[in-house]
This record gives sequence, C-alpha cells and structure tokens, in this order.
Amino acid sequence: MAKRNTWQTRFGFYLVAIGSALGLGNLWRFPYVVGENGGGAFVLLYVLLILIVGAPLLISELMLGKLTGQSVLMATKAVGKKAHRSFAWFGRFSVLLSLVVLTYYSVISGWVLHFLTQFLFHVFSSPGSFAGPSMELLQSNGWLQLALTSVHILFALVLVLKGFQEGVERYISWVTPVFAVLVSVLLWKSFSLPTFSESVRFLFYPDFSKLSLSSLNHAVGHVFFTLSVGFGTMVTFGSYMRSNDHVPTAGFRVSIVDTLVSLIGVVLVFPVAFQASNVPMTDPTLMFDVIPRFLLDLPGGNWFGMMFFLCLYLAALNASLGLLETVVSNLDDRNQKLDRTTAAWIVAGVCLALSAFPALSSTYLRNVHIKEKGFIEIMDSFLINWLLPLAALGLSLSFWKGTAEDDKFREFSGTEHVVSQVMYSHWKFAVRFLVPVIILVGLALQIFDLFKN
Ligand code: PHE
Repeated sequence: MAKRNTWQTRFGFYLVAIGSALGLGNLWRFPYVVGENGGGAFVLLYVLLILIVGAPLLISELMLGKLTGQSVLMATKAVGKKAHRSFAWFGRFSVLLSLVVLTYYSVISGWVLHFLTQFLFHVFSSPGSFAGPSMELLQSNGWLQLALTSVHILFALVLVLKGFQEGVERYISWVTPVFAVLVSVLLWKSFSLPTFSESVRFLFYPDFSKLSLSSLNHAVGHVFFTLSVGFGTMVTFGSYMRSNDHVPTAGFRVSIVDTLVSLIGVVLVFPVAFQASNVPMTDPTLMFDVIPRFLLDLPGGNWFGMMFFLCLYLAALNASLGLLETVVSNLDDRNQKLDRTTAAWIVAGVCLALSAFPALSSTYLRNVHIKEKGFIEIMDSFLINWLLPLAALGLSLSFWKGTAEDDKFREFSGTEHVVSQVMYSHWKFAVRFLVPVIILVGLALQIFDLFKN
C-alpha cells in the first residue's frame, strides 16, 4: 500500500482539524439552537456533553484513522473484517451524510457570501449610505441563493482539486489570527451594550424548566456537528497524523478551542438580539439578522462588515472543504478506476443538484412546513438531530470492536501530554458506556416528544 502523506508539521494538523471544527456551526447554528432550547441550561448541558461525549468520540475517530491509515470507508471495512462485516455500512452511511449535509451547508455559506459581497460593494461604491444587507431580500430570491450556492461549491471544488494539504494549510494560517482580532473587537463592543448583562443571564444562568424532552438530543447532535464527528472527516485527518502524534491530546485541544469559539459566538449574538426586539431567536436566520446591525453601528462599519464576513466565509469554505474532501477521498480510495478529478466533479455535481432544494426553500418550497419549521430547518434538524447521532454511534462501535485494546492503550501512553495514561479508563468508560447510553436515551426522549405533541 502506498504510504500516506502526513502533515508537514504538528501545527499543520491542528490548523486543519480546528479549521474543520470551526465553521458555521459555531456562529450560525449554535446561537439559534441555544435560542430554541431556552438558554443557560442548554449551554450547560452542551458543555458537559462536549466533555463526556464529544471529545471522547473525536479521539476515537482520529484514532480509527491513525491506526488504520485509511479514510472512513476503507477504515470501517478494515475493522469490519476483524469484527463484523456490516461495520462497513457505518462508513458508507457517514460519507452519505457528509454529502447531504454539504448541500444545505453550502446554501448557508452562500448567504455568508452574499453578505460579504454586499459589504464589499458598499465599501468601494457608496460609503455611508448603507442600511446593511437584508436577509428578507435574500430570502425572497431563490435563484440568487442557488447562484451563490453554486459559486460556493465551485470554490470548494477548486480547492479540493488543488490537493488536500496545500490548499488548506496555507490559507488558514493567516485567516485565523485576523478573525481572532475582529472577534475580540466585537466582543469588547458587545460588553458595552445595555443588554449585555441580561443576555449573559440568559446564556449562563441555568433554568432547567426551559429544557424540552428533545433538548438532550439537540445538544448531542450539535456537539457532533460542531466537532465534525460522525461524518468520517476526522477519520481522514487522523489517517494523515504522524506516528508520534498524540491523538488524545489533539482531540481534547480541538474540542476545547471549538467550544470556546461557540461560547464567544453566543456572547456576541445575544446582546444584539435582545436589543433588537423583533428578531426571532429560534430561527436559522438569527445571526444574519443580528450581526450586520451591530457591525454597522461601529465606526467604519462597512469595512468591519466586509472583514467579518470574509473571515466567516473562509471558515465556512474550509468546513465545506472538509465535507467535500471526505466524500471525494473516500470515493477515490475505494474505486481504483475513478481518478480524483472525476470523483470531485461528480460529487460536486450531485451536491449542487441536491442543494437546489434548500436553496429554493424560502421561495418555491416555502409551503413546506412542519410545525412552523421551514425546509432548511427540517433538513437541519433531521440530519443533525436524528441521523448524525446514529452515524457517530456506528463509527464508535466499529472502532471499539475492530481495534485491539493494546493499540488503543498505546495511543494514550506518555505522561508529558495534556491527556495522559490515567485518562485511558475514563475515555474507555465514556466510549463504551456513556456515549451509547446518552445517544439512545436522547433519541428515545426525542421520539417521545414527537408523539406527545
Ligand atoms: N464542524 C463544522 C462546523 O461547525 C461543520 C462540519 C462538519 C465540517 C463535518 C466538516 C465536517 O461548522
């Protein structure tokens, strides 16, 4: 078997793994899911689940990749041979899920692209006279959304065709610091809003009566989504790790950084949302309704807006790249006859065709509603709250049954790391017991909730 490429540096791995975890999940999805689930108690539940479910599974997926040296399809096939052949189906399921999630992820990325171009246009054409990009306008134009989605998929395709590491490692290393500076300025501004303390109370004071029966599962689903667990993406990244890289430490660090960014995201969004009384806090448009107003209040608002949406767009592009790369590299690894370029074009084409549904959801499909939820929300909820936990569970099971205990234990060895050998038994307990129990209880409660209403 040909030797796999590995990261040039350990830093390269972190850039790409953190880059894949950070994305729209942090700034777009997390705030509205927190709004939907009533604030503080949900945030607390989410942080807890990152620690006991998310990080352990992230470590498992990275380890599955590192131990087999393969992407998820071949990796589950390999471990399936050792344990149970049907495990290969879990791999196929997670790749399929990546493809379908990419369709609506691309639509939301298209929204970001629209906001970016609007700000860009106003920076250079008519400074001062701009009321901000309008979500309403975008929502009333389905073809524009489809066009933006196509541009986004095309960008991702080009980057994937340029090759995995080169395309990505390079640009994230300069985007991350720029974004960090921008977000710090915004945070500092949000501290000074009169609604800041009210929103901090909403976000961090746990009122458990606000949780619904489905909240556990909503938290589990979001934990997987934001950490890119259950899609097979992290298996691919793990397969590129070098033999002396410490998987548990890496998984733990990625989880912590991602969680901090999500928490910063809600602290940014909610003070502004509270100030603008007419914003629906439970809607996927929340971030898009809120952030531009805030940016335009700042001196040099158009510039700020442009930079903010540029960074957000690059984060979204990078996450999309992770999803597209998962599907393409798996297809390519599996099918010797298909070259990578053809595989990438086929996947991008299928993705574009399917993305017409979410892209046209606010116009031609606007009558598709379930309990006041529109098409994108239904799709998001079905994929992330129902299918993703099952995919994550399947991968976790294949990994646990199909790899030797000694190999897993060895990956924990070394005491100089953040996560050391003493953590092995905790991790084992989490993966073997907590993860399946929490996922299954979450799904059961959600089913119950469905029939109750
Ligand atoms: N974790 C990404 C986000 O939060 C989404 C993603 C999932 C990216 C799976 C790649 C793979 O936006």
